[in-house]
Amino acid sequence: MTIYRATVLDTPESPFTGGRLRAEDDCGIAVTAGVVVDRGPFARVRAARPDDEVVDLTGGVLLPGLVDSHVHFPQVRVIGGLGMPLLDWLKDCALPEEARMADTGYAGTVAAEFVDGLVRAGTTTALVFGAHYPAAVDQLFERAAAVGLRVAGGLVVSDRLLRPELLTTPEQAYADAIALAARWHGKDRLRYAVTPRFSLSTSEAMLEACASVLDDVDGALFTSHINENGAEIDTVRGLFPDHRHYADTYHRYGLLSPRSVLAHNVHPDDAELGLLASTGTAVAHCPSSNSALGSGLFPLRRHVERGVRVGLGTDVGAGTSFSLLREGLQAYFVQSLLGADGLPLTPAHLLYLATAAGAEALGLDSVGDLSVGKEFDAVWVRPDDGSTLDVVLTHANDADDALAKVFALGGPADVRGVWVGGDRLR
Ligand code: GUN
Ligand code: ZN
Repeated sequence: MTIYRATVLDTPESPFTGGRLRAEDDCGIAVTAGVVVDRGPFARVRAARPDDEVVDLTGGVLLPGLVDSHVHFPQVRVIGGLGMPLLDWLKDCALPEEARMADTGYAGTVAAEFVDGLVRAGTTTALVFGAHYPAAVDQLFERAAAVGLRVAGGLVVSDRLLRPELLTTPEQAYADAIALAARWHGKDRLRYAVTPRFSLSTSEAMLEACASVLDDVDGALFTSHINENGAEIDTVRGLFPDHRHYADTYHRYGLLSPRSVLAHNVHPDDAELGLLASTGTAVAHCPSSNSALGSGLFPLRRHVERGVRVGLGTDVGAGTSFSLLREGLQAYFVQSLLGADGLPLTPAHLLYLATAAGAEALGLDSVGDLSVGKEFDAVWVRPDDGSTLDVVLTHANDADDALAKVFALGGPADVRGVWVGGDRLR
């Protein structure tokens, strides 16, 4: 149907297990019904399909669509609230804004800003922390469906230690989640994600209600926060005195599985890493948020050595932008600051973390790279002529070097095209 002509970079094999960057200059990608049916040298792909439309994306690079494995919809307008550690930032910055989502009209406006922000950044798939209000979550799903984004998300639930208007009961939380899942789970490119805010704000009964939703909604995901900040971890320890560690506060209720994604995990002990690995739980690494809130330097090497799957999350609004290119760069900075404890990251690692690793964390095997058989989720990074990124790309030594430049300098202004399942969103 359509042949895309571009310089294509992707990572079908994980660089953490020996894979390398796959780079093809003047590549042709043939797409039928949203799926890649052929790829290779443009001349060959074209000769096999002389009547197909050709979309010329030469200049810049074509990457797989970016995957944000942790981002908060109601926090768009509080991006950049700097100067506070996690619990102060939640109380004074994030949660007052989240309370405004009780106004469904307001939530609808923010949902549009949120989805637009993702697409402008080249994000094609996201695991989204929704709002505490079901009608606000409807606004998120409605907007994502209208635009065509792949989104997993759900109602954020809590029953203690937050401002009172954000609290609910386990019974109400279960009923609201089931009703939302009935409306949205499996519709278009949407899935439901069971979302207790964190075990600090959820009683055991609430965690049990979450487990019931997971049991009753086939294929739903689970997401929450873990081990982000010292004061948070101490509080959780006090609230769950008979639990082995923070990860156990989810595991006891059957919430950890290959369908689970926990954000942050900056301060895990070895037993927790072992549990996350053995349950197949993935971690969303959110380096700009961890830096902005002073949460700490993420121990990526320990995760990888233990076999814990890791994706990348922007964590907007503690994170400072929607761009997974910037997030990849920050991940690189953090590992280099860790010195001997860090895991040196190549450009291929950064691309993998921002694409295929996220797809895998979200249980999606149909996206993540641009191989034959995958859906055509792609982002065309094409800087303005004469921009600094354009200049350095022109002088790049090879594909790895060009990709390093994209992470160093690229951002939403350089995103010229975004496709999900072959549909052009931008
Ligand atoms: N822990 C609980 N809620 C949040 C949140 O909204 N952002 C971050 N970064 N951590 C959290
Ligand atoms: Zn978060």
